[in-house]
Amino acid sequence: MRNVYVMDHPLIMHKISMLRDKNTDTKEFRKLAYEIALLMGYECTRDLTLIEQAVETPMGETVGKFIDKQVAIVPILRAGLGMVDAMLELVPAAKVGHIGLYRDHDTLEPVEYYCKLPTDVEERQVLLLDPMLATGGSAAAAIGFIKKRGATNIRLVNLIAAPEGVARVHEEHPDVDIYVGALDEKLNEHGYIVPGLGDAGDRLFGTL
Ligand code: PRP
Ligand code: URA
Repeated sequence: MRNVYVMDHPLIMHKISMLRDKNTDTKEFRKLAYEIALLMGYECTRDLTLIEQAVETPMGETVGKFIDKQVAIVPILRAGLGMVDAMLELVPAAKVGHIGLYRDHDTLEPVEYYCKLPTDVEERQVLLLDPMLATGGSAAAAIGFIKKRGATNIRLVNLIAAPEGVARVHEEHPDVDIYVGALDEKLNEHGYIVPGLGDAGDRLFGTL
């Protein structure tokens, strides 16, 4: 599939299988989400552009390579919060924006309630985080908000995605690369990913 990167690292596959398990409790679920986000953070930053700068080592001068573009980490509230700390661990200088959206239970369309992005978001490489890409409505709307602020480099990072969500983001935002931990079979009649993991926000925060 066009600009979709499905993770094939054994550690990611192992941890996603544990995450799916209905017997995984909230504490373990949060820890696994952190660990998977950390591993996916490594993959989705693999080709960030570098600039060269002189570095003085105790042995003399060399040319070091540093990440060129500053990063903005943007979780979609609330489940995206479960991936933020891992990304910050990897890119501690990143700024963090927040987009608050929830899916209307009946229409499945996203409803916005909060949006606060770094003032210089247009200059940054944006990593948009949400554990679940189901119908794609939330991600497509969030990408729309970020683009309205002038950002042009956006990557979407999801732990689990449905083909329907990938197709919607592709259709509305063909320029956005999507990194998914696993690409599942389908959505059920309530818009939940099958086999998926259930409700990511509820499992992360114990509100089941
Ligand atoms: C979940 C999930 C995504 C969205 C995915 O959030 O975290 O944001 O659903 O569904 P979509 O692709 O069909 O839009 P939810 O709306 O349940 O809100 P929450 O994170 O506050 O629980
Ligand atoms: N949101 C979730 O948390 N899980 C799904 O399967 C779909 C949307």
